[in-house]
Amino acid sequence: MQILVTRSLPGNALENLALSAEIELWKNSYPIPENELKKMIRGKDGLLCLLTDSIDASIMDYAGGSLKIISNYAVGFNNIDLDAAKQRGIVVTNTPGVLTDATADLAWALLFAVARRITESDAYLRSGAWTGWDPSLMLGVDIAGATLGVVGTGRIGEAFAMRSKGFDMKVIYADEKPNEQLEKSLGAVRLPLDELLSVSDFVSLHVPLLPATKHLIGERELRLMKPTAILINTSRGPVIDEAALAEALDKGIIRGAGLDVYEFEPAVNPMLLKQKNAVLLPHIASATNSTREKMAHMAVENLTAFIKGEEPPNRVV
Ligand code: GLV
Ligand code: GLV
Repeated sequence: MQILVTRSLPGNALENLALSAEIELWKNSYPIPENELKKMIRGKDGLLCLLTDSIDASIMDYAGGSLKIISNYAVGFNNIDLDAAKQRGIVVTNTPGVLTDATADLAWALLFAVARRITESDAYLRSGAWTGWDPSLMLGVDIAGATLGVVGTGRIGEAFAMRSKGFDMKVIYADEKPNEQLEKSLGAVRLPLDELLSVSDFVSLHVPLLPATKHLIGERELRLMKPTAILINTSRGPVIDEAALAEALDKGIIRGAGLDVYEFEPAVNPMLLKQKNAVLLPHIASATNSTREKMAHMAVENLTAFIKGEEPPNRVV
């Protein structure tokens, strides 16, 4: 089998793949441009791609009918047109589970950073402006005892919520279905989204990007939030109307935001870039050595199982 791999991956997983398939690798450290992808995918049986690669029907068709499996190096798979894959009998796989802890950790890092103005304080100190301890310097908000609103309690949202245990927080969540684990171990209460937004001190988003979750948080929802509230997003950028968020931060409609993902990555709304009350990270939630290596092994195992004629362990369609 011939597999197109759209980026070098951490660890030795690709060496394993090379034992059972012929690999063609996009060797640059920037996303493969669409025209290159269309050229390189021609005649390939499999594709190992990144979340930055948009794999639609036309890309699938450029393979010329040979493409049988797409292994996404991500848990999210909104970059792939699943219906088009299904219609063409192409298997799609992802990398769930292995990045749950790393992503939940990073959502907390953002929450702390915004609540306690960590990046702002660090920049202030380095600027040389610090003249000494000051009763009013860089005042933030309390985390302990606050109300934590978790939107989406799948694997990642649940792990994020469970980490609140040490902080004596009131945990509320919004999800289509009840989460027994959170209700039992944290006394978490499930609420409609609007209600959650209006009472939470912190709101953290953990939903997949679907037509129904695009702009889940827009101007109306931001206005429902407390003016003291902080919004965290480690899911997918388009879940938030980014222009509306930039405006809300600018006008003080909410207190702050911690973001790892953006609506039009790698572009970031210019007004958002100007907000001191926003902590902005370059989509690094799963970026630990061990997590990225595990993701690589999982993406490769999905391919090698398929090559052996077995069911890939993490099949999406
Ligand atoms: C990262 O964003 C992922 O979906 O794995
Ligand atoms: C992601 O994999 C989730 O279920 O939250």
